[in-house]
Amino acid sequence: MEVALLGATNRAYEASYQRWSRVHTTNRQSLIVAVRQTAFDDFSLIVLPRRKNIEQRDIHKMKLLEPVRLGSHTLKNRMVMAAMTRSRADDYDQAARNAIEAGFDGVELHAANGYLPNQFLAESANQRTDEYGGSKENNCKFTLEVMEELVHAVGGDNVGIKISPLHPYASIQLDNPVATFTFLIQELNKMDIVFVELMKRSPMFPLLPSSPKDDEIELFGKLIKHTLIANTAYNKETGEAELEKGIAKLISFGSLFLANPDLPNRFQLNAEINQPDRATMFGGGEKGYTDYRPLD
Ligand SMILES: Cc1cc2nc3c(=O)[nH]c(=O)nc-3n(C[C@H](O)[C@H](O)[C@H](O)COP(=O)(O)O)c2cc1C
Repeated sequence: MEVALLGATNRAYEASYQRWSRVHTTNRQSLIVAVRQTAFDDFSLIVLPRRKNIEQRDIHKMKLLEPVRLGSHTLKNRMVMAAMTRSRADDYDQAARNAIEAGFDGVELHAANGYLPNQFLAESANQRTDEYGGSKENNCKFTLEVMEELVHAVGGDNVGIKISPLHPYASIQLDNPVATFTFLIQELNKMDIVFVELMKRSPMFPLLPSSPKDDEIELFGKLIKHTLIANTAYNKETGEAELEKGIAKLISFGSLFLANPDLPNRFQLNAEINQPDRATMFGGGEKGYTDYRPLD
């Protein structure tokens, strides 16, 4: 799985690949050959910036509530927002096509963790009064439209989605996460896609008053008819226990994979696991990224 940004205005992470032009696609092909030699299917995760990135950086078109001049027109808020939303969905479409052309097996829409689709889902971010806000159906509209675009662009067999119903990263807060995500999942169930990756709330974040105490895999996972991938804070034991329950079919690992480049091998051998060092995890340098050693 690799992250890729989309859109020329998107400067969220300097080191991430951008998939908005064919030049970027071509530049990626040699690396993809190497990635595909592993046993894993290679999915590209496509994202737009999170709230904090939008606030920190000067992406003026992302300020949803300001009138915008377009040529000789000063467009009213509602029109601008609708036009902008449309163009953003088109960005995803092009990025997905480019990802497949570059050799990836599929694309996963990042609708978790405060990225743009997650902002539409959450009342703390979405203050729109047009058809993209104001009700659970409207709040889900952007995510579902993008998913439809992706299915249309590259085929449902190549499309998945990542959601994080109760994870409040980047000030994401839903008035009624159970109602909104139940609706979203029911609509996703009607689509011919491959998987849903369900990111649980990280134990480092609080449970919000509007969130239920239930286990997210029990609560939301049981509603999902597609292959369910459970994500966040798993290790070998808890991952196996989760699979035993029979709701999730796969477990995805983040930090453990970072600290153990040969993680599947270590699991198989019941070998010692390197513990990830959070202090070096989100920096730009090599330390904490390429210096974890595989088993001899
Ligand atoms: C080094 C590192 C960087 C990450 N960067 C992002 C990110 O930019 N955006 C995001 O939504 N999640 C990010 N994640 C979260 C992962 O996608 C994944 O959801 C998470 O790591 C799973 O939990 P785990 O690490 O406990 O297995 C990152 C994780 C790691 C380890």
